[in-house]
Amino acid sequence: MIVAVLILLAYLLGSLSGSLLLGKLRGVDIRTQGSGNAGGTNALRTQGWRFALGTVLVDVGKGALAAWLALRFGAGVAWLPYAAAAAAVLGHVYPVFHGFRGGKGAGTLVGALLVLWPIAVAVLIGAWLLVLAATGFVGLSTIIAGATLVPLALATGGAPERLAFVVVLALFLVFTHRGNLARLRAGTEPRFERARLLRR
Ligand code: G3P
Repeated sequence: MIVAVLILLAYLLGSLSGSLLLGKLRGVDIRTQGSGNAGGTNALRTQGWRFALGTVLVDVGKGALAAWLALRFGAGVAWLPYAAAAAAVLGHVYPVFHGFRGGKGAGTLVGALLVLWPIAVAVLIGAWLLVLAATGFVGLSTIIAGATLVPLALATGGAPERLAFVVVLALFLVFTHRGNLARLRAGTEPRFERARLLRR
């Protein structure tokens, strides 16, 4: 019973989209602007850094909270925190409170990993920054950073639940970024323009 409650709660927490809730206060829906994604990058692209920071804090925070609740109240069920983390990411991508059209899940995944496997967040962010600096493409950086979790989990051993979690989530990030991949192939994916975007 508690397992089902914690997974449902994680999904509902994930469904609280930072950009869409902040957008309600501002009277904008960023799904109609920029890349159309309800996430931190598109918040920065279309609304400026303060809005983006608020978005990231909510999206990372809810992932961390969902994982923490499952760890704290999950009666030691080893796979439950990973299942709750996955449910939170699923909620972010398909939010029940926002017509099942949300973001791509990266921020929420980072929040969950901060609780479940903090060292992986350092690797993830390091890989993300490297690819971003080399290519300028945020979506591609997110896909590759997510993929680095798989060799990291294989190299460090640890619980099989963790390996299963990162394999599923790395693949899911490719799926949620399929539009970015299509734009990359078509040559229409915009590059991150730090100077212009952070000034707003
Ligand atoms: O996490 C989303 C990011 O990787 C890409 O965002 O708006 O460029 O599709 P966007």
